[in-house]
Amino acid sequence: MAVQISPSILSADFSRLAEEAKAVEGADWLHVDVMDNHFVPNLTLGVPVVESLSRATDTPLDCHLMIEDPDRWAPQYVEAGAGSVTFHVEAAAAPVRLAREIRAKGARASMALKPATPIEPYEDLLPELDMLLIMTVEPGFGGQAFLDIMLPKIRRTRELISKHGLELWLQVDGGVSDATIERCAEAGADVFVAGSAVYGAQDPAQAVRALRGKAQQ
Ligand code: DX5
Ligand code: ZN
Repeated sequence: MAVQISPSILSADFSRLAEEAKAVEGADWLHVDVMDNHFVPNLTLGVPVVESLSRATDTPLDCHLMIEDPDRWAPQYVEAGAGSVTFHVEAAAAPVRLAREIRAKGARASMALKPATPIEPYEDLLPELDMLLIMTVEPGFGGQAFLDIMLPKIRRTRELISKHGLELWLQVDGGVSDATIERCAEAGADVFVAGSAVYGAQDPAQAVRALRGKAQQ
């Protein structure tokens, strides 16, 4: 499994998004958290900002939609230039149709699970996806403590991916840092989102390299 790092601009300075995106060039993705104040109790940014960001950086955008009605909105994020679009299964009315639409428009389709959402009911959907995101905090805010109790779910999901012989990537998001990334990697994650651990560091690009090194061990 190739390790990929996706720094989250939620922890960046929103008045300098283009520079903050450039500060992590060398990362595999730039994670963009879209929040609507309904699905989660926080509000961030939308399609126009994603469009501008996609022009401002060569790093592909990994858009994490924490919004109601992703069936309606997710395709617009593909059109705005996202390379990967993640919707929450708890919010999607028709996850299979939506994943197919995201792929048909040319982006990677990804589905996220909140901490209390089990993977097992969705085993048969996995072939429709390019990535599965297991939240390791309750979505809504950066800087929260990693939920160790998610490690068994990461492990079980990795087993399902292997059992079906899928190429699916397994992303973790929330509280990923120097102190927790090895546990996530050992459990089977291969794409790591990190907000405060990257943008809270003196040198964000160096923080990305350090996280990659730890995940590869
Ligand atoms: C939280 C967001 C995360 C957030 C992670 O709901 O989905 O992407 O930016 O921030 P850290 O890495 O600080 O927990
Ligand atoms: Zn996120």
